Amino acid sequence: MLEIESLSAGHGGGTVLHGIDLTLTEGSVHAVLGHNGAGKTTLLHTVAGLLRPSRGSVTLAGRRLDGQPPHRIARAGVGLVPQGRRVFARLTVAEHLALAHRRPRGQAAPWTPQAVLRLLPRLDERRSQPGGRLSGGEQQMLALARALLGQPRLLLLDEPTEGLAPDLADEVLQLTRRLADDGLTVLLAAPQLRLAASVADRLTVLTAGRITAAQDGAAARADPAALLAALSPVPVTGLEATP
Ligand SMILES: Nc1ncnc2c1ncn2[C@@H]1O[C@H](COP(=O)(O)OP(=O)(O)OP(=O)(O)O)[C@@H](O)[C@H]1O
Ligand SMILES: [Mg+2]
Repeated sequence: MLEIESLSAGHGGGTVLHGIDLTLTEGSVHAVLGHNGAGKTTLLHTVAGLLRPSRGSVTLAGRRLDGQPPHRIARAGVGLVPQGRRVFARLTVAEHLALAHRRPRGQAAPWTPQAVLRLLPRLDERRSQPGGRLSGGEQQMLALARALLGQPRLLLLDEPTEGLAPDLADEVLQLTRRLADDGLTVLLAAPQLRLAASVADRLTVLTAGRITAAQDGAAARADPAALLAALSPVPVTGLEATP
């Protein structure tokens, strides 16, 4: 579904991502873990076309996306939910949804404002409120709703649980899982292993722009030691069981 091959990218002159390889199957949730500054946002922005890769390729369902402008990539079915949500303070929820609603000719466009509000009843209750009066969780729901209205096949979710209370964070992730079960492919940037492992089919650790560990979700849920070690700021030693 999504093939990322030998992808390198950065900001200005500096390289942040060094030869990233990732494959996402359709309808799966792939979590990219990593500390602040590891390159998660840079990876998502490069896939979305906001940054141009210096090397490598991004292919969605057989179609090369790298080098294309962001609006083309969006039209090819890539939706980004940016870190920090970026909702407009003065526009109402309904206005956000109306602006985001894309109805491409000759293409499936299952998401309507009504459909996203059915999925997100909490947002439905607030539909005449301006973005600036929504809680963090409601703003996150709105950012997700807006991305869905672009009719994505691939959703790039950048730290969607940042700053949310645990139950709300869980709700957002469970919703992500349901969307993937319905066929959406999800690339999720997440700082926390535990939360990400609860929904991801596959997890990859990014350290200073390189992949340092990867595991299937089921294996990570059974024994997260390998991922934890890769996420650890210092090498973990002396924790082995004594014979
Ligand atoms: N606009 C920019 N200009 C220059 N350097 C940048 C820019 N944005 C990010 N960087 C640098 O790129 C590197 C990777 O940053 P990135 O935002 O991708 O990390 P991240 O994993 O998303 O971190 P976080 O968990 O804090 O969101 C960092 O060293 C950061 O300082
Ligand atoms: Mg980030």
